[in-house]
Amino acid sequence: MSKLIIGASRGIGLEVVKQLRERGDEVLATVRSTPPSELHSCAAKVFEGVDITAHDTLRELASKIGSQELEWVLVVSGLMRVQHLGRLDEDAVKGIREQFEINSLGPLMAAEFLSPLIGNGGKFGIVTSRMGSIADNTSGNSYGYRMSKAAVNMAAVSLAHDLQPKGISVALLHPGWVRTDMTGHNGLIDPPESAAALIERMDNIGPEESGCFWHAPNREILPW
Ligand SMILES: NC(=O)c1ccc[n+]([C@@H]2O[C@H](COP(=O)([O-])OP(=O)(O)OC[C@H]3O[C@@H](n4cnc5c(N)ncnc54)[C@H](OP(=O)(O)O)[C@@H]3O)[C@@H](O)[C@H]2O)c1
Repeated sequence: MSKLIIGASRGIGLEVVKQLRERGDEVLATVRSTPPSELHSCAAKVFEGVDITAHDTLRELASKIGSQELEWVLVVSGLMRVQHLGRLDEDAVKGIREQFEINSLGPLMAAEFLSPLIGNGGKFGIVTSRMGSIADNTSGNSYGYRMSKAAVNMAAVSLAHDLQPKGISVALLHPGWVRTDMTGHNGLIDPPESAAALIERMDNIGPEESGCFWHAPNREILPW
């Protein structure tokens, strides 16, 4: 059975694909535009043109995968933009909406079209952020990112309820503070450590932990 990684062009998603291929898993990987050469060289099956905000591309992806049963789907795609109170102009509001489209609605629509392909005992994972934790918000700011990740956290809990009868567990995973394009290559860990932690959680989370909000590298449950 294959594992599908959505948002594998760079950063954490690309590294998850590389590590899964290194251990011999069958991997399907999506990108929005031209895939990096590393995706082809690790022999993942690549689907181009999958934009998580263009829901028809998710529907088409599901039909291209066809009757092949998936073991997992992991949605890694995400966008972070910073907005400041007092400077919420038209562009800032546009950026907030864009983050909702990518970070909240995108994973939900991926579940809509792709969860029917996951077999009993399979997993649907979403890479979220601890910045979506209301209890953990001690510094404010980042309105669109925090709001959109809090919204996807709520979606994941509903998905956990709705997919439970199909035997599918939902994993909601904070990847750590990772040195990628998103953070301007600042952070505490590099993509290989983060990807290994995400894979470990996806491998090991079962029905009893479905819908929990994990700090993947620390293997701790985060507060909502
Ligand atoms: N890095 C961190 O410290 C950190 C911390 C907490 C959570 N996260 C989360 O981890 C995930 C991966 O982040 P990263 O650090 O690897 O970021 P990244 O290097 O900026 O990569 C972002 C990925 O998302 C894809 N993407 C963006 N918009 C998309 C869309 N509309 N449709 C499909 N794919 C889209 C990008 O594809 P393109 O190449 O086509 O743009 C790229 O593959 C995100 O969900 C992020 O919020 C990261």
